[in-house]
Amino acid sequence: MAFLFLSTPERARVFSAAFADRLGQLPFITDAHSVDPAAVRYLLSWTAPDDLARYTNLEVLFSIGAGVDQFQLGALPRWVKLVRMVDAGVMRMVRDYVTMAVLALHRNLPVYLAQQSRGEWTPHPVTPAAERRVGILGLGMMGQAVLESLKNFGFVLSGWSRSAHVIPDVTCFSGAEQRKDFLAQVDILVCLLPLTAETRGILNADLFAALPVGASLVHAGRGPQLDETALLAALDSGHLCGAVLDVTDPEPLPADHPFWQHPNIILTPHIASITQSDSAATAVIDNIIRHEAGEALVGLVDRSRGY
Ligand code: NDP
Ligand code: OXD
Repeated sequence: MAFLFLSTPERARVFSAAFADRLGQLPFITDAHSVDPAAVRYLLSWTAPDDLARYTNLEVLFSIGAGVDQFQLGALPRWVKLVRMVDAGVMRMVRDYVTMAVLALHRNLPVYLAQQSRGEWTPHPVTPAAERRVGILGLGMMGQAVLESLKNFGFVLSGWSRSAHVIPDVTCFSGAEQRKDFLAQVDILVCLLPLTAETRGILNADLFAALPVGASLVHAGRGPQLDETALLAALDSGHLCGAVLDVTDPEPLPADHPFWQHPNIILTPHIASITQSDSAATAVIDNIIRHEAGEALVGLVDRSRGY
C-alpha cells in the first residue's frame, strides 16, 4: 500500500515530512516509476495522470486544488473517490483576495488606476459600505468565508446557490428561479462557483443585463464560466463599470488579449489561492486517517453534481 505524490518537489518536501511524522507506515512515493502501480492506494495531483488506469487498486484521488473540473469526472474509474482540497489555508487566501477585490471595486480603484496612467487627479464621490450591495454566486466553503469577512465592512450582503441556505445577515437566494431577483439587487457580484456543465458560461450577456447599471464583477471561480465578449460589451457600454478577474480561459491569456490593457479590468494570474503545503498536508493526512477508520472523507466530490 502506498501514497503517490505527483506535485512539485517543494511541496513534496513538506508533505513527505508531515507523512513521516503522522503516517510513517504508509510509503510516500514521488516517482511513479519506482512503485508497483498495484500498490498505490492514494494519489495526489492537480489533474488525473494519463496512465491512471494502471493504478488498479487506487481508492482515493486527492486534488491539490480546491476545484476539480480539471479531472474530467466522466473519465475516472467508478470506484475511485475524488476529493477536493478542503483546507483552511486555501480558504483564508480566497477570503483575503476577494475582500481585497471587493474593496478595490467599492472604492473605484480601476478608475483611479486609469486616471493615474493619464496623470489625472480627480476625486469621485464615495458610496458608503452600508449602501453597497455585494452578492456572492456560490455559498460553499469559499463563498461563506468571504461573506464572514465582508460582514466586517458593513456591506449589504446576499448570495445564490443551488440549494437553499440560511446565513445570518445574508439574504440567500437559490436555484434558477431566484437568480434574476438575486442579480437585480447586486452592485458588486463575486463568482465563486465550481465549473460544471451548469455553470459553464454562466457569466454571460443575460446575467450582466440582469445586474443594475454600474455594477461590477469579481471572478475567482473558473475561466470558462465567463463569456469574455459579453463582459467586454458590458464594460464598454457602461452597463458594468469594472471587473477584477483572477481566472481566465485559457490561462495565461494570449499577449494580444483585450483584457490585458482594458482600463476597467484588473487581472491577476490565478493567485486568489495558492495551495499552502503545510496546511494542505494536514488536510490530506487527516482525510486518510478518517478513510482508514471507515469515516466519511471531507471534500468528497459528488460526481452526479460535478462538484
Ligand atoms: P463548494 O463545493 O464548497 O461550494 C460550491 C457552491 O457553489 C455551493 O454553494 C453550491 O451550491 C454552488 N453551486 C454549484 N453549482 C451551482 C449551480 N449550478 N447553481 C447555483 N449554485 C451552484 O466549493 P468551494 O466554495 O470550496 O469552491 C468553489 C470554487 O471556487 C471552486 O470549485 C474553484 O473553482 C474556485 N476556487 C478558485 C480559487 C482560485 O484561486 N481562484 C481557489 C479556490 C477555489 P450548494 O451549496 O447548494 O451545493
Ligand atoms: C483552485 C486552487 O482550485 O487554487 O483554483 O485551489
